Amino acid sequence: MTASGCFVTFEGIDGSGKSTQARRLAEALRAEGHEVVLTREPGGSPGAEEIRRLVLEGDPDRWSAETEILLFTAARRDHLERTITPALAAGKIVICDRFADSTRMYQGLSRGDLRAQVDQLHTLMIGREPDLTLLIDMDPETGLARARGRQGHEERFEDFGPELQRRMRAGFLALAKEFADRFRVIDGARPEAEVAADVLARVREALA
Ligand code: ADP
Ligand code: TYD
Repeated sequence: MTASGCFVTFEGIDGSGKSTQARRLAEALRAEGHEVVLTREPGGSPGAEEIRRLVLEGDPDRWSAETEILLFTAARRDHLERTITPALAAGKIVICDRFADSTRMYQGLSRGDLRAQVDQLHTLMIGREPDLTLLIDMDPETGLARARGRQGHEERFEDFGPELQRRMRAGFLALAKEFADRFRVIDGARPEAEVAADVLARVREALA
């Protein structure tokens, strides 16, 4: 918890149910009278949404991993300045679909080990972690099948295929151990309502 507000993030592989659970959590907390800002990365501010289009549309080989680290971090900095920090300062609960842990995994792991560069840039330009991170964990075959079921043109990382998604899952679980104080691992391979109840219980603990 920060002095005011609470910063909650969802992480996990593509198709694990993050967006669904983030939306349900926002609805549940609003129904209890909390002021909630529901946002996502990359994006969450007008400038960061423009960067989202640059990184998620077009040729998958458009950017090197290093350039992607810069683009995702630039988007995050704008999102933080314009959306997240003001909302937390106003005492709101900010729920964000993906944050810096996604850069640690996707750009840090997918094309060689760039974790140190991700962390250095994070320290320099972002400098804050969530109060609570909910890792929606599930096997990549199920996640990928769910993600493919959605129609869309943002396919960049889903196209990396099941092998990379398996490494991502293991990477996220390792990250949950590394940052055990703020991470909670949620079994995502259950009906939506069951996952949502688990998520809400973890958030109530954090707010208490
Ligand atoms: P993510 O944001 O992690 O990529 P989404 O929330 O977009 O995942 O969910 C991916 C797809 O799976 C969507 O079509 C969604 O309706 C569906 N879905 C989400 N949660 C569940 C669940 N618990 N069981 C079955 N399908 C789900
Ligand atoms: P998202 O819209 O959350 O995709 P999904 O709903 O399929 O999980 O995120 C879009 C993609 O961007 C996703 O494949 C992960 C990737 N991504 C990164 O590679 N680095 C990052 O820092 C972030 C925030 C996302």
